[in-house]
Amino acid sequence: MAGSAGPFGGKGVIMLDSDVTRANPEDARRQLVDGLTSRGWITQPQVAAAFAAVPRHLFTPAGTSLETAYADTVVITRRGPDGKATSSISAPWLQAHMLEAARLRPGARVLEIGSGGYNAALIAEIVGPAGTVVSVDIDPQVVANAQDALSRTGYDRVRAVHADGEHGFPPDGPYDAVIVTVEAGDIPPAWNGQLTAGGVLVVPLRLRGHTRCLTLVRRDDHLIATASVQCGFVPMQGDGRDPVRRVPVRGDDAILSLDDPTTQVSADALRAALDGPRVEMWSPVTLAMSMGAAFEALHLFLASQPRPYGILTVDRDRTAGLLDPQDRFCCPTLLTADSLAYLTLRRHDDEAWQFGAHGFGPDATTLVRDLLELLTVWDQHHRDNGSPCITVHPAGTRLPDTERLRLLVPRRHTLTAITWPGGRR
Ligand SMILES: C[S@@+](CC[C@H](N)C(=O)[O-])C[C@H]1O[C@@H](n2cnc3c(N)ncnc32)[C@H](O)[C@@H]1O
Repeated sequence: MAGSAGPFGGKGVIMLDSDVTRANPEDARRQLVDGLTSRGWITQPQVAAAFAAVPRHLFTPAGTSLETAYADTVVITRRGPDGKATSSISAPWLQAHMLEAARLRPGARVLEIGSGGYNAALIAEIVGPAGTVVSVDIDPQVVANAQDALSRTGYDRVRAVHADGEHGFPPDGPYDAVIVTVEAGDIPPAWNGQLTAGGVLVVPLRLRGHTRCLTLVRRDDHLIATASVQCGFVPMQGDGRDPVRRVPVRGDDAILSLDDPTTQVSADALRAALDGPRVEMWSPVTLAMSMGAAFEALHLFLASQPRPYGILTVDRDRTAGLLDPQDRFCCPTLLTADSLAYLTLRRHDDEAWQFGAHGFGPDATTLVRDLLELLTVWDQHHRDNGSPCITVHPAGTRLPDTERLRLLVPRRHTLTAITWPGGRR
């Protein structure tokens, strides 16, 4: 998928008036632009003009209704043998965000990694005939479909190429913007290396299982994020494939995802832990029900702790009463090798939720207390205090010691640092 921002994330979904969309794609496009503009995803006139011009419905699979084509959601276009999506047309809100973040101008040279045609056509509208748009995809069928749709809609000047985007596309570089439309676990040297001096790299980067669409610009020997938005994308294939480890802890009803080579657990011990008692404690920290988007920052804060960490995903119906995480798709979980504690939530009153933690295993009490303590730190120092600074350095860089709270995510090519404002803890 490309676009999901979690159950509480994003700025709401635009559902189109079905009578209008059935009647007329131009009206549907106008409605989409109005919705994206009113929710703040579109602020630049050239981006609005591109969404108004490109016929999104002509890039969707045959049989897709106009309503679906112009709703502000992802449209899946390809699935793998296991039924999981391998390609999609991203949600319009996310495409608008990425296009604005890339600061595209007429005449710009742009590389899109992960194709489909529609987003490349939007880019082509913005950079105009003097610009260059190259769109690479690892799946030859996606490339063929993109070429076909681009040619039918009059955007033949987009160059759709079958290639592994891990290596960029040197023949047409350097680029003013590299826009990655597939979830990456790392940033290979080609993406930064094929940027012009003032170029922008927009990339959905997985940070300990939480994917953030980062807008990265060069600062000395590293990249610094000027914006970060929660999102979901299909994962990268090919040479840059870097899958998250999945540990079933209750058959397939509860999966622990580990996105950090330094976090090691015993799957058998965790399974056994879930057969034991549940430790449950509640925090004085509450969250107004209207403030759902705050979960995004809280999740990244909990993931940023320099300690073993995972994400719990559960089948709510089948695990209710045993596992009741705050987020059934993506719940922050503190770990030791044989114990876990996840974030939970209960209704405090008619207007607020109350946070808590549930723990299992020999270290359950310690982990639950640690989680509550982190909630207090977040509440007192970070919830109203902006987002962390995210920087990406070449692997092996030795960063100066700092008293500030910072997590380092080591990957093959890079070292990502997430630094929170204020003092340590
Ligand atoms: C979300 S889709 C792209 C969406 C598209 N840009 C659009 O118009 O909305 C992600 C694409 O990335 C492709 N992909 C996955 N790994 C890749 C890689 N290593 N290099 C290039 N493309 C890749 C998939 O085949 C898939 O088509």
